[in-house]
Amino acid sequence: MIFTVAIDGPAAAGKGTISKAVAARFGFRHLDTGLLYRAVGARTMEGVDPVEAARSLQPDDLDDDALRTQDIAQAASRVAVLPDVRAALTEFQRRFARSEGGAVLDGRDICTVICPEAEVRLYVTASAEVRARRRFEELSPEDQTMTLDDVLQDVLARDQRDMNRADAPLVAAPGATIIDTSAMDIEEAVEAAAQRVAEAL
Ligand code: C5P
Repeated sequence: MIFTVAIDGPAAAGKGTISKAVAARFGFRHLDTGLLYRAVGARTMEGVDPVEAARSLQPDDLDDDALRTQDIAQAASRVAVLPDVRAALTEFQRRFARSEGGAVLDGRDICTVICPEAEVRLYVTASAEVRARRRFEELSPEDQTMTLDDVLQDVLARDQRDMNRADAPLVAAPGATIIDTSAMDIEEAVEAAAQRVAEAL
């Protein structure tokens, strides 16, 4: 069976949690596409050319907890504005999306660019304050010195860059189901997404 669940939305809206839970429930594979941009961002922090880093990326590079820091998130959103970086990562994501057995992909341009034909298309969002609070409560050990306001500023800077770039800006795709998780707990958010998948199967 080929079946794709495409999920877009801003940082810390709940995409990752929803994606993992939906993938587990339906037995689909999951790709957190932010990790691709984080892995490229991390290489550029070591001085590697971003396009070169994107072209030479290996699936194993994604398996790295060190990619979770706020510095790498910012580096990721800076390389993500480069059309040649995005183009170098497209094929891998499309192949994953249409691989046998069902797939969940979450990111910023999955419904709009990578997989506009996905069987389920969701836009998961929440207010910037709620997202900053969630991110603050799960800061990685390297980021423990950040205040809630630092995290909010980071979230807003990334929103600004992700929503205003010329190539594949973050936007709710026409026809996508919008799930605003501001006032939802995890179970409610997962249920809302799983219900859409069940309807489309
Ligand atoms: O989702 P995550 O916070 O890990 O993404 C890091 C950055 O990678 C985002 O801020 C965004 O700039 C970029 N990204 C993207 N397109 C995707 C996934 C992530 O541009 N599909």
